[in-house]
Amino acid sequence: MRHIPERALTRGLAASLLVIGLHAGAASAAATDLHGAMPVAAQEQRFDALKTGDGSKPPMRIDPAIWVSIVPADNAVTPERVALGRKLYFDLRLSPDGTVACATCHDVSRGFTDQRPVSEGIRDQLGRRNAPTTLNALLMQTMFLDGRAPNLEEQAKLPIVNPIEMGQPDGDAAVKAIAGDADYQKMFQSAYGRAPSYDDIGRAIAAFERTLVFLDAPFDDFVAGKPKAISPAAQAGWALFNGKGRCVTCHALNPSNPVGSDNRFHNIGVAARHKDFEKLAGEALVALAKDDGPDAVDKLALSTDLSELGRFLVSKQRSDIGAFKTPQLRNIALTGPYMHDGSMQTLWDVMDHYNKGGEANAYLDGGIEPLALSETEIDQLVAFMFTLTDRRFQAQSDAAFASQQKRAKTTRPFRDNALAQRQILPFEKRVMEEGAKEN
Ligand code: HEC
Ligand code: HEC
Repeated sequence: MRHIPERALTRGLAASLLVIGLHAGAASAAATDLHGAMPVAAQEQRFDALKTGDGSKPPMRIDPAIWVSIVPADNAVTPERVALGRKLYFDLRLSPDGTVACATCHDVSRGFTDQRPVSEGIRDQLGRRNAPTTLNALLMQTMFLDGRAPNLEEQAKLPIVNPIEMGQPDGDAAVKAIAGDADYQKMFQSAYGRAPSYDDIGRAIAAFERTLVFLDAPFDDFVAGKPKAISPAAQAGWALFNGKGRCVTCHALNPSNPVGSDNRFHNIGVAARHKDFEKLAGEALVALAKDDGPDAVDKLALSTDLSELGRFLVSKQRSDIGAFKTPQLRNIALTGPYMHDGSMQTLWDVMDHYNKGGEANAYLDGGIEPLALSETEIDQLVAFMFTLTDRRFQAQSDAAFASQQKRAKTTRPFRDNALAQRQILPFEKRVMEEGAKEN
């Protein structure tokens, strides 16, 4: 039962880091009001420097066939829609107390996420899940860590009305919050030819997010035929990714899957610290029988213990218990802490988790097993992952590498060499743990 105290320790660490974060924020009233995010005007300045497309033509680096397949027929990307979506993305007025926008948790200065274990929304309420980045989200085939929204349009509407995120009582209230603004009235007219509506808020934000294409990384030069674009260590890491590490079986990374996700759902043993999956699943079915609409599932996922059931909340299939969507690996340097619960601080932690075959549980994916990677091989896989950051964020990526490396030198809470190197037979250990629990 050695994993459980380790997990508890990491959680404690994560919690104390959060407390430090809050204290630092309290020094400046503005930072506290914005839940730790950079003020939106400063974010917009940084955003301009990134020089994303304005929607007048399909983005570079995306296969035209893929582009056609991801843009819905009723929401072609146009400059008017992108401009409107951008204004909405950064607009704090979409939350009743004026402190939360999309850009609060998907902050330009923090890799378009919030770099916290779990997100903080209106009235400082903490959710249960780690915010994925909006960078390249256009290329994910479903939205959210459990895929409960089919596309960016439907996704964008949910945080606005979630009581712990942006906190609008309903879609009409969100429309009212902005409809008095003459600029918005004009912009909705030119983007969609009608007055503001909740659905068009979702559509415009989605159009804007389809310009957040960040696929220009050293790795891309390497695969385009420039071997020196990445270090020898990173090259060895790429070979391990496709070979001994078995990463590619889920993190497909190729021209059809440029972000490194198979878009499927797997239990890789992160949620397994909540071992009582059966009880949780029973409770979930009772709750879902009352209401399994999108708003209801959104609330269960973000503010209850049932969150750890992952994809099961959407599919109700037992095989999906504790399964989450394979996340993208693009810009991974910027988007820590990692996993659906933000429980891992560094990519070395992630590697330690995989190396020992994850956390044992009855629903663990068959693709997860001890990897027997050496320390050098772990370093090489980490070096490879750092080549996936878009060059516009190179300085941030280098800083993240230095700080993660420093931390990993002293703190490796997920490392279990005996399991990783198969000195303990993992399946026997599992059987013994299960037996010990029943006694
Ligand atoms: C309070 C913090 C918070 C706010 C505000 C917020 N988000 Fe998120 N976002 C999250 C979290 C947490 C998740 C993951 C939740 C889950 O999967 O259950 C998420 C998921 C997403 C995803 C899915 C990405 C993927 O790879 O599946 C997108 C896209 C996104 N948010 C865009 C937005 C937009 C657009 C807005 C504004 C309308 C917004 N978010 C507001 C925290 C936030
Ligand atoms: C069986 C499928 C599978 C395999 C094999 C796999 N992954 Fe994952 N990976 C996932 C899933 C699913 C998650 C999200 C799990 C969660 O949050 O509970 C994940 C999460 C991650 C994350 C964290 C991403 C984030 O934004 O939080 C990284 C980094 C990662 N994997 C890298 C790797 C590497 C490197 C390998 C090979 C050593 C690998 N994965 C092998 C499915 C897999």
